[in-house]
Amino acid sequence: MQGFMTPPRKLHIKSYGCQMNVYDAQRMVDTLGAEGFVETTEAGDADLVILNTCHIREKASEKVYSELGRLRVAKEDAARAGRAIQIAVAGCVAQAEGAEIIARAPTVDVVVGPQSYHHLPELLARAGRGEPAIETEFPAEDKFSLLAKPSRDAIRARGVSAFVTVQEGCDKFCTFCVVPYTRGSEMSRPVERIVDDVRQLTDNGVREITLIGQNVNAYHGDGPDGRPWTLGRLLYRIAEIPGVARIRYSTSHPNDVDDSLIAAHRDLRAVMPFVHLPVQSGSDRILGLMNRKHGASDYLKVVDRFRAVRPDIAFSSDFIVGFPGETEEDFRATLALIDQIGYAAAYSFKYSPRPGTPAADLQEMVSAPEMDERLERLQALIDSQQSAFNKAAIGTVVDVLFERAARKPGQLVGRTAYLQPAHVMASHDIVGQVLPVRIDSLERYSLLGELVTAPAANSRAPISPAPFLSIGG
Ligand code: SAH
Ligand code: SF4
Ligand code: F3S
Repeated sequence: MQGFMTPPRKLHIKSYGCQMNVYDAQRMVDTLGAEGFVETTEAGDADLVILNTCHIREKASEKVYSELGRLRVAKEDAARAGRAIQIAVAGCVAQAEGAEIIARAPTVDVVVGPQSYHHLPELLARAGRGEPAIETEFPAEDKFSLLAKPSRDAIRARGVSAFVTVQEGCDKFCTFCVVPYTRGSEMSRPVERIVDDVRQLTDNGVREITLIGQNVNAYHGDGPDGRPWTLGRLLYRIAEIPGVARIRYSTSHPNDVDDSLIAAHRDLRAVMPFVHLPVQSGSDRILGLMNRKHGASDYLKVVDRFRAVRPDIAFSSDFIVGFPGETEEDFRATLALIDQIGYAAAYSFKYSPRPGTPAADLQEMVSAPEMDERLERLQALIDSQQSAFNKAAIGTVVDVLFERAARKPGQLVGRTAYLQPAHVMASHDIVGQVLPVRIDSLERYSLLGELVTAPAANSRAPISPAPFLSIGG
């Protein structure tokens, strides 16, 4: 409880890893905001620093310890000046390592796993009394309904595009991956709770909703009819909410693409024709060792189903190079698959053995120089596809959702349907609108163009979404 004259305590939060962590960080800020904390961008003048960590690769989780080293110094300096700083470790490293974190970095006051963020205020109080404050259980209660909702001001400050978690956890158990252990088994939020969250966002100026989950298209939340709904069905419901101009969802697994999802892409102009569909490898042998439960040809068939209803659809993917036992031939199969698909973008990673995962026991490690060389070849291929994709926009008119002022005075930046940043000279009051832009040139990954007053005849979009002109506030 804040006393009348108590200045607000300051909170600094640093997130690593995926979109789930970005979303969780906002909900932690909202929840601690209700306890009197205000966010600060400076770790140095915070009373509480939260590191929201990622365990996916060794590099990601080791970053936490170097950051904790720096924080220890800041905490000791502050203590000498008579000021206390609390340090909390949240996220997937907290879940995976628990008490070990405090053993290795005694400067840490609180360790909290992703399913327990609603207990943060209590954990901080416990730590304040010098009691142990470590929580990595998977509690039975639903954290989403127990975390505070964002305030109107917080929503407006975060901009026109927002994430909404609809699903969490994963039951797929790919042999390289820690997520099923750090986030637990799949759970889906009920449809009506998601609808309420989206309404609150759009009432406060949000125009683009990205539904997120580790395995978002395995969504099976309870509908208002008491039956489980698919992601496709959820998309139809979200598209009905006034103010929703664009809908995206991430991350999908190829095996969970069902007919309702394809139909949503066919029928709903708000559903963006850009899908993140990780395949990891193009070699059936490696896909088998990864326990992906699909081959390269199954993946191609899934892509074809999307393309049949939306010829303008584009894909991005994740790739792992150097999975144990990957031969040059296996790697070439990955390049061949990339060639066949033609991606608009992709993320690629060197395989990193993770403690507790089945693949960590595999012996046949690919050597470091081979991994480097394969990563370089794969990235060169992806880069060439991405720049061809971006270049194809030059001379066309595309719809852009305007997000904010760009660095250059008078310039605004927004995103195309394919998440390409697009810059135009325009007045700030078009932020939040989707308007047609004629693309003139490309500067690195950014499209440059000018607003056109006539409706977009998007050369890539046969189902050309009409421009959304000033929807509400
Ligand atoms: N749920 C998503 C993404 C999970 S993590 C999916 O199913 O694809 C994001 C990406 O990190 C993965 O797609 C994978 O490419 C990569 N990744 C996961 N574990 C890894 C590991 N042990 N080493 C290297 N990359 C890994
Ligand atoms: Fe990890 Fe595989 Fe689940 Fe994705 S589908 S989160 S890669 S186990
Ligand atoms: Fe990292 Fe956890 Fe996300 S391991 S990628 S933060 S689910």
